Amino acid sequence: MPTFLKSFAGKRIFLTGHTGFKGSWLSEWLLGLGGEVWGFSLPPPTTPSLFNRLALKGRLNHRQGDIRDAAALKRALWAARPDYVFHLAAQPIVGAAHQDPKGTWETNVMGTINLLEALRSLRRPCAAVMVTTDKVYRGCPDSRGEDDPFGAIDPYGGSKAAVELAVEAWRNAYFQVPRSARGAFPRVALATARSGNVIGGGDWASDRLLPDCVRALSRGDPIVVRNPRSVRPWQHVLDPLAGYMKLGAELHDALAGHRAGKLAELSGPFNFGPAEEGHRPVREVVAQVLRGWPGRWRKAHLRSPQAEAAELRLDSSKARRLLGWRPRWGFERAVDQTVAWYRGASAPRGAAKMTLAQLGEYTAT
Ligand SMILES: NC(=O)c1ccc[n+]([C@@H]2O[C@H](COP(=O)([O-])OP(=O)(O)OC[C@H]3O[C@@H](n4cnc5c(N)ncnc54)[C@H](O)[C@@H]3O)[C@@H](O)[C@H]2O)c1
Repeated sequence: MPTFLKSFAGKRIFLTGHTGFKGSWLSEWLLGLGGEVWGFSLPPPTTPSLFNRLALKGRLNHRQGDIRDAAALKRALWAARPDYVFHLAAQPIVGAAHQDPKGTWETNVMGTINLLEALRSLRRPCAAVMVTTDKVYRGCPDSRGEDDPFGAIDPYGGSKAAVELAVEAWRNAYFQVPRSARGAFPRVALATARSGNVIGGGDWASDRLLPDCVRALSRGDPIVVRNPRSVRPWQHVLDPLAGYMKLGAELHDALAGHRAGKLAELSGPFNFGPAEEGHRPVREVVAQVLRGWPGRWRKAHLRSPQAEAAELRLDSSKARRLLGWRPRWGFERAVDQTVAWYRGASAPRGAAKMTLAQLGEYTAT
């Protein structure tokens, strides 16, 4: 097992968005590592949901709540007294943001600001990783590193770019990193984490490629693909989650050890995308899915109502350089594991078995 995973044993970890796809994987992983998990979220966003399939509600400190409710969020954070915070709660669907941009901004931007405000009142060292996305950048196809300019290719991407700015503003104003070990240390260390297009078992969101494939294949229908040529950075969910955890662990060490230089280096944005080979057109993802689950696909007749970038890329060399993080599962393995999960999940207790088996396999990789 990679050593940084041991940092979470016996620690208090506050998760927002723990009822969602990524949050459920992260909850299961942290529980398996001996972490004490405190979750604050709305109910699972889909039916079925990984959260329910893993029966997580009874295994962690579950609190149902809305991050737009500043007082409720602050109470939950205080009750948890966390060593770590992973902020994943969001309205994360591009199409839904197009339908409801104001609601999306209220959740993504004001929800994050409510959390930042609550973090100001913490009295113990805490490392907070705020999750954004590769869609914070301007819609240019070049491989994008952390310092490339933000933009707003759509209301969802724009909301997450605003989250990046809010985190930077609160860090500069209230959680300032000292210039030397003799300076005053903040109680909270803050970083943001961006991933690419995340795939993995247990996602049932609408308007996402892999869940759309699984729904069509289980009905015996062809998979309908909107933009087969669009290139996206595809990666298995465990890869970015490992990145968030490694970042959290190192931030906490730097904070607790009063290592000013290291803390300054880590208190910023990080990309956790796939290797170059994981940047593939949608049609290659579909072809790989069909190798594991035979069926058909066809192109959609209608064009998507919202603008979509032809190519999105992510440069994750900073995470490699500063954290020693690298993606462990390549493109084919990521898709194959995802398809295997859905196929295995229909058996009794299949979702839990597949999730635990894949977590075990990943940490042994
Ligand atoms: N899945 C991806 O491909 C992907 C890629 C890049 C970034 N992200 C980011 O990762 C995070 C998790 O994404 P996901 O795919 O697990 O999404 P998801 O929709 O499965 O989960 C979202 C979670 O947020 C919670 N939530 C939504 N609105 C809330 C509110 N107002 N108050 C409290 N909780 C609320 C939901 O209940 C759920 O627990 C999001 O921040 C998303 O933007 C996801």
